[in-house]
Amino acid sequence: MSEIRFQEVTKTFADASSPAITSCSFTVPSGSLVVLLGPSGCGKTTSLKIVNRLYEPTSGTVTVGGADIRDLEPTALRRRIGYVIQQIGLFPHMTVAQNIAVVPSLLSWDKERQTARVRELLALVELPPDEYCGRYPAQLSGGEQQRVGVARALAGDPDVVLMDEPFGAIDAITRAALQDEMLLLQRKLKKTILFVTHDVEEALRLADRIVIMRSGRIVQDGTPLEILTRPADDFVRDLVGADDMVRQLSLLSVEKAMRPLPDDFHEDEYPSVPCMENLRRALSLLLQSGASVLTVMDGDEPAGILSLDDIRASARSTETQA
Ligand SMILES: Nc1ncnc2c1ncn2[C@@H]1O[C@H](COP(=O)(O)OP(=O)(O)OP(=O)(O)O)[C@@H](O)[C@H]1O
Ligand SMILES: [Mg+2]
Repeated sequence: MSEIRFQEVTKTFADASSPAITSCSFTVPSGSLVVLLGPSGCGKTTSLKIVNRLYEPTSGTVTVGGADIRDLEPTALRRRIGYVIQQIGLFPHMTVAQNIAVVPSLLSWDKERQTARVRELLALVELPPDEYCGRYPAQLSGGEQQRVGVARALAGDPDVVLMDEPFGAIDAITRAALQDEMLLLQRKLKKTILFVTHDVEEALRLADRIVIMRSGRIVQDGTPLEILTRPADDFVRDLVGADDMVRQLSLLSVEKAMRPLPDDFHEDEYPSVPCMENLRRALSLLLQSGASVLTVMDGDEPAGILSLDDIRASARSTETQA
């Protein structure tokens, strides 16, 4: 039970002529990933910082796991909530291991438990522990620093994680790889995540729900598919490029579109695609490889096949639904 709920939350900073966020209500259900999406200055970071009480709302209520956060002591609250800040924010004078162990050491875990946790998390974000534990942030690439930032946020095993543009300032390819990892991680860990981005693709890819903000107000709250197919207004339509059919493919899973394996099928002869991959990726794989079908894999096991026709049929059925 770690749902985050905003009820009519308004925040006006001292000296500001208008509120940074106005009357915002939305919920991050326990175990799901909700993305706050919107242009620069619309109030995304402000909303995140309210959750761990770096800012206090001017009015309205925020609950975490049903408890009003005003009733929770801020430091105790922050130890329960993982936080990836917008500019990564690794401590430059600390090694990777020390950075990741910040919360475990605040929680007074013994040294052995801390070391084990650091190694486990580095493995989770695919940085070999022996190689990376002793390095300093300046000795890491941008993408590696962001992985360490994610590992650090998960270190105390929080149920709730706040992520503020965790993959910002990263090239598109590394970013896509980090997003893939994020999806796998979330499948395993089922954290309650409030994730901020202004990258539409990233939002569509990762979110269970997307909350779209504009000038401090929520303009739409829905699943990625709802937002693409039924944008609330022209602002949302333009923001998410709702008219782009190919985008819709990125929301449909290979698993839903595949057909059963034929009896005489030689799976080794075709390129493979994981069943959790989206149809947009499957389409580009088909087009790149020139193969007639893909073998759909569930872990190490072939689970089905997917052809161009299957992708088309899936896209068409979504169109009629919308
Ligand atoms: N500490 C502060 N004091 C005064 N005003 C602030 C403060 N923090 C943010 N603001 C203002 O509140 C508004 C929302 O800022 P916020 O940082 O939440 O935007 P954002 O959506 O995270 O933008 P970005 O995508 O650029 O990070 C902005 O107008 C900003 O200037
Ligand atoms: Mg911000």
